[in-house]
Amino acid sequence: MALMTWDESLSVGIASIDDQHKKLVKMINDLYDGMVAQKSREDLGPILEGLLLYTAEHLDYEEKIFARTGYAQSDVHKEEHTKIKKTVIEIYERFKVSGSGSLSLEVLNVLRDWLSGHIQGSDKQYTQHMLLNNVT
Ligand SMILES: [Fe+2]
Ligand SMILES: [Fe+2]
Repeated sequence: MALMTWDESLSVGIASIDDQHKKLVKMINDLYDGMVAQKSREDLGPILEGLLLYTAEHLDYEEKIFARTGYAQSDVHKEEHTKIKKTVIEIYERFKVSGSGSLSLEVLNVLRDWLSGHIQGSDKQYTQHMLLNNVT
């Protein structure tokens, strides 16, 4: 069973961003499935690395739009992104040292909670701004 599901409660109403969030949900679920199946370090490593890279790519995508459109909440939002990146890097660093054993339900729940918490708490606040600036 999936750790998390994307549903309308996670929609920010901007198609390109919803698509990226859906991909992040899928990547977290893939990591969770791999952990539950007790996959090897060799199998889990690329999944976690992929999540790390795509997280950075997605946060960067949002930040570039903030800069281009002059989003007033940009600084506060970017601070949250910095914390998220730090968390994911820490999880990855711990995995590199300790292997699969470093991934637990607790760690996966941290990933799930930052994604849903950040989307619902912060990303949703930019919907109006994005629509006014024709971001689709
Ligand atoms: Fe986002
Ligand atoms: Fe964000």
